[in-house]
Amino acid sequence: MYLSSSFNGHNQNILHSVAHRDRSLPNLIRMAKHTKAVHKQEISAFVQARTVLQIIGEILLLLLKLAYFNIESIYRIFVPATEVSVKGEVVLVTGAGHGIGKQIALQYASHGATVVAWDINEANNIQTIKEIEKKGYSKAYSYICDVASRENVFETVKQVEKEVGDISIIVNNAGIMPCHKLLDHTKEEIERIFNINVFAHLWIIQAILPSMLKNKRGHIVALSSVAGIVGLENLVPYCSSKFAVCGLMEALYVELSEYKNCNIKTTVLCPYIVDTGLCKKPKVRFENTMQIVTPEDAAAAVISAQRRSARIETIPGYLLYLQNSLRCASAKFALSFKSFLDTGIEAD
Ligand SMILES: NC(=O)c1ccc[n+]([C@@H]2O[C@H](COP(=O)([O-])OP(=O)(O)OC[C@H]3O[C@@H](n4cnc5c(N)ncnc54)[C@H](O)[C@@H]3O)[C@@H](O)[C@H]2O)c1
Repeated sequence: MYLSSSFNGHNQNILHSVAHRDRSLPNLIRMAKHTKAVHKQEISAFVQARTVLQIIGEILLLLLKLAYFNIESIYRIFVPATEVSVKGEVVLVTGAGHGIGKQIALQYASHGATVVAWDINEANNIQTIKEIEKKGYSKAYSYICDVASRENVFETVKQVEKEVGDISIIVNNAGIMPCHKLLDHTKEEIERIFNINVFAHLWIIQAILPSMLKNKRGHIVALSSVAGIVGLENLVPYCSSKFAVCGLMEALYVELSEYKNCNIKTTVLCPYIVDTGLCKKPKVRFENTMQIVTPEDAAAAVISAQRRSARIETIPGYLLYLQNSLRCASAKFALSFKSFLDTGIEAD
């Protein structure tokens, strides 16, 4: 009674017909076990078929997304996204005393943002604030901070939050670029490159991300370099640090997508050569196609990319596509192509 109640109609028929021929209990139990095993196999085949169908469905959806997002990015090359307003945003710019950072600070102020300028060089940083005030833009704030020091970063963020308010846009710009053969770099120099060019980004993000998560919005911008997507001679530690910036920003982009109710964006900029004095001996073979850009133009490109929420861009823009294509070619061809371009930085 107990056994037969657990079988389906088909299995019961088999059982009954066999039981009719041999009604001994061991035979009945053996048959019951066999039928149960057949039943289990049927169920697992059904589950497998359902899983396969589900995976096929997911792959089709992925192909649709591939087509949609690729068409969208090609469309965006010709029709850039609208630039959002940054009026009223509190923008932290590191390395605001000179070069690209100074221009980023001045241009954000011209768009109506409140600029918080950080630099290790007090006189230069104050000069940037004075220029913002002279132009009559919104009030800007100067803080002296060594971004390589985690303690200094956390203390300064606390001070800014008390005196100015929560930072809504970070521009991790401060950086150094000693340029010579790897064997000529000292241990201290390599550590300093990583402390300023990489670790500072992590300390600043760790110090400010909690307030962005609380406010459910924010934007984190990082200055990497073309040396962060292409290996260049005389720049082994610098390239390593700028590749690290691209890696940390990509991982951050993925991690932030897990916070479903937060709108915190990331943007990475990879300039080629900007006329700030950082690249002391630039070497460019085809000057018309690989022009050295002014800090003003580089800053405008950084702000535009942030306002369009671009994930990664090079300055000039085509270098990203060129490098992505070279990545698909053989490494030896890429090397030959680099020698043909004959461009880079000579040792200091
Ligand atoms: N200039 C280029 O050709 C070029 C190209 C690609 C990428 N980049 C990147 O752009 C960023 C800005 O470069 P730039 O050419 O304007 O440099 P820059 O030397 O003109 O200015 C850098 C600023 O950072 C400040 N700084 C340095 N160390 C600091 C520290 N520990 N704490 C706080 N501030 C510090 C300096 O005082 C200076 O004001 C850098 O990250 C650089 O790697 C520059």
